[in-house]
Amino acid sequence: MGFRDLRDFIAKVDKLEMLRVVEGADWDLEIGAICQMMQESEENPVLLFDKIPGYPPGFRILANHQNSPKKQALVQDLPTDLSDLEIVRHMKEKRKQTSTIPPKEVENGPILENYDRGDKVNIAKFPTPKWRTLEGGRYIGTSTLVINRDPDEGWVNMGTYRQMIHDEKTVGFFVEPHHHGMIIAKKYWAQGKACPVVACYGQEPDLFQAATGSAPWGRSELDVAGGLKGEPVEVIKGELTGLPIPARAEIAIEGEVPPPEVDSRVEGPYREWPGYYSQEPTPQPVIHIKAVYHRNNPIMTGNHISNRNITVGPVAHAAIAVWDTLEKTALPGIRGVWAHANGLFIVISLKQEFAGHAKMALLTATGARGSNSAYRYYVVVDEDIDPSNLHDVLWAMTTRCVPEEQIDIVRGTVSTRVDPLISPKKREVGDLTCGRILINACKPWDWIQEFGKSMTFAPEFERKVREKWGHLANSRSR
Ligand SMILES: Cc1cc2nc3c(=O)[nH]c(=O)nc-3n(C[C@H](O)[C@H](O)[C@H](O)COP(=O)(O)O)c2cc1C
Repeated sequence: MGFRDLRDFIAKVDKLEMLRVVEGADWDLEIGAICQMMQESEENPVLLFDKIPGYPPGFRILANHQNSPKKQALVQDLPTDLSDLEIVRHMKEKRKQTSTIPPKEVENGPILENYDRGDKVNIAKFPTPKWRTLEGGRYIGTSTLVINRDPDEGWVNMGTYRQMIHDEKTVGFFVEPHHHGMIIAKKYWAQGKACPVVACYGQEPDLFQAATGSAPWGRSELDVAGGLKGEPVEVIKGELTGLPIPARAEIAIEGEVPPPEVDSRVEGPYREWPGYYSQEPTPQPVIHIKAVYHRNNPIMTGNHISNRNITVGPVAHAAIAVWDTLEKTALPGIRGVWAHANGLFIVISLKQEFAGHAKMALLTATGARGSNSAYRYYVVVDEDIDPSNLHDVLWAMTTRCVPEEQIDIVRGTVSTRVDPLISPKKREVGDLTCGRILINACKPWDWIQEFGKSMTFAPEFERKVREKWGHLANSRSR
């Protein structure tokens, strides 16, 4: 069973002594810098910011709660001592077995504890960080849910799309053109109407995981979240939009996104997950906020992504999407999949069984989509290589890959607006494509039997040595 709400999750983190409360940090860059400093520390705790200057005590921000494999295991309710690859394997299997459970409408919930409408609407009442130096504003939606309904088919979509605060009653709506949330919004705009939306800025990890995963068109991520939780997500019906609002969320809004020609505002820059302010500030659609709901002492969830941290959500989405795709096409011999560099560098480990096997895995993998579509490198390695271990992967790349025979470039594949390698010229004409590199770092198949041996010790012998001599590795040298 998943977590009932964010507070339930925080209580578990606290019990495991993985929580650090930080009091007095400023919203203006200090919170972001502390997140970065702490995620590079050995302890890397989950951070709960409180007593933020200028805001009432109790108006808090939870951050660094999903940025390591161990924390991701916690989110999944898995033992925290599993290997990185085992965590992803468990997540993949769980997702396969989990059926969807539709949300349950309830009359009441903690989200109704505070409720502002009309003139009282003020999204600036929450201590929203300016996360990084060059960012164009304060981003409230770094770990958000955005909910809208397809006007023709009636189903409800939920995605994670970043949001910058423009003013007390307006936030940005930055959605990739191919994401379902945008396709739905465009259907309203085509009729000259505004698209009703609900957004949440603090919620338990299951909801965030469902929102950032790519459910097929027509399947509601709220149903997926119910499946992950093992019980329906309780929702109240938004008075203004009729959309579902998670009843145990921390902060939510109801609003509408008018057609861009009616209102668009300059948004960004934002330091995106590839690690760059890739895009100049551009006009983007906005949400006009009509109502703000929040619990007493609300907790905003924030996501500080740095190029060193593993934001395991997207990493796991990428690895699972590729792994699933390989399995669906019945490709044999897959040992595991991992994604490095926030998902840009995918590694597949397999046991080669026929000529062209590794190449087939690479080509199949390029068809998978996780929480983004900008994967750059695909590397396939033999079964003795742990794909989550970069040292092993580099060793395979440098010693098993014949460059002129085992590297391919696929040109013109779909990327994203946040890709730093999309040139200004291509951006201007809306061409968001970029190439991908496929590296077969497996031993060359046609002479695999003659390939140099590399075994140090037989696994059984190693196990015995560990049993007998393992104490040496654990004792300090004198
Ligand atoms: C932390 C994080 C931030 C994201 N921000 C955005 C964003 O600003 N805009 C966007 O279009 N997608 C963003 N995504 C990706 C989407 O949430 C993801 O692809 C989702 O599956 C899209 O759902 P949809 O196809 O149902 O719209 C983000 C993902 C993560 C993990």
